[in-house]
Amino acid sequence: MENFQYYNPVKVLFGNEVLEKMCAELIPYGKKALLVIGKNSVKQSGLYARIVSLMNICGISHFTYEGIKANPLYQDADDAIALAKENKVDMIIAIGGGSVIDTAKAIAMGFHVDHSVWDFYTQKAERPTKALPLFTILTLAATGSEMNSGSVLQDDDSGMKLGYSAPCLYPKVSFLDPSLTLTVPLNQTAYGISDLISHALEQFFGKGDSPLTDLYTASVIKLAIQDGEKLILDPHNLDLRANIMWLATNALNGTLKAGKNAGDWGVHSIEHTLSVLFDIAHGAGLSTVYPAWLKHQQPAINRKLGFLAKEVFGLDIADEQQAADVFLQKLEEFYNTINTPTRLSQSDISRSERSKILENFKLNKVNGLVYKLSDTDCEQILDRMW
Ligand code: NZQ
Ligand code: ZN
Repeated sequence: MENFQYYNPVKVLFGNEVLEKMCAELIPYGKKALLVIGKNSVKQSGLYARIVSLMNICGISHFTYEGIKANPLYQDADDAIALAKENKVDMIIAIGGGSVIDTAKAIAMGFHVDHSVWDFYTQKAERPTKALPLFTILTLAATGSEMNSGSVLQDDDSGMKLGYSAPCLYPKVSFLDPSLTLTVPLNQTAYGISDLISHALEQFFGKGDSPLTDLYTASVIKLAIQDGEKLILDPHNLDLRANIMWLATNALNGTLKAGKNAGDWGVHSIEHTLSVLFDIAHGAGLSTVYPAWLKHQQPAINRKLGFLAKEVFGLDIADEQQAADVFLQKLEEFYNTINTPTRLSQSDISRSERSKILENFKLNKVNGLVYKLSDTDCEQILDRMW
């Protein structure tokens, strides 16, 4: 067991109709809000209109920054910060998935400084000590951003996708109404499930054994697989939507790293290159990288994979190597069942892109925290992905 700090100040309101409690939560923080939304889903679903009318009932005036793209850009955050400053808002309300929430976090910290928010991500600026109060209304179960202090933005011009985290970025309150995810299309639903399983795996491969955390992690993966398969067949099932939403939140709210150090995060590091170069969905990239990474690391992680084979799939196989092999096979079968890609060719990324991808790995300093990746490791993992 590694030493660890457990801290999570986010208030979560979970369940149908939690939005009715919005006024009580927001009013103590001020009278003016910046709403941040994505391309069009929240307008199409009617959620945006519902929030606007609730804001009017609360007596909170509001401005909206819309158009945040999936795999969000720092330039949007900078533009939204200008709008927030011009209107002297008191709080930020993110309505959307991880991309919208991550941008909202950037806006919250950028509000108090005079430089581009990108300077935080590139480590040019000092760590922020304050940020505007942030509230999230989650519409897609995937990243866990609603209950953590991390944000990931990218710069298409330089080809960099970078994560940033600071304690002041925890949302004040996150509203988790599973019915808001009923409109998520099947592909994004599957990518979200892939993302949450990846968060569990990344932390599982952190340094140290932590019995409670390891069993909890295996349970998160097991339930995500069981309910994920059912949800793809029955996407309007609200109970399944609720289960997946809470699993996704728990997969990256600090619970799974207790006693495990920070995790490995090598697979996320590789995936960020795919997102920034080809704009593929984060979860689709992860289900492509994981089978290759696990196979590459297999000699070093057979014991851990054997544990997962037993706890996730209930397999009683005495031989460690064989148990690990079956785990990898079953994980890949699961990805295929829910229709999230496991090969780059399925995302129309051809072998002619190989050197471009390898260059971007170097630019983004792709690596794992525990299982260090040399240039040769990166090449071999990439070659397994076609
Ligand atoms: O833009 P709109 O029109 O809203 O559509 C979005 C988007 O196209 C759509 N969508 C969201 N809610 C919907 C919906 N469509 C219908 N009904 C709804 N209720 O889904 C698409 C994807 O949205 P996005 O927010 O990009 O997805 P996700 O939540 O998977 O976020 C991915 C981003 O989060 C980062 C990723 O790198 C990626 O940039 N991550 C953030 C993390 C964090 N902050 O802790 C950790 C993760 O590992 C991840 O790196
Ligand atoms: Zn992720």
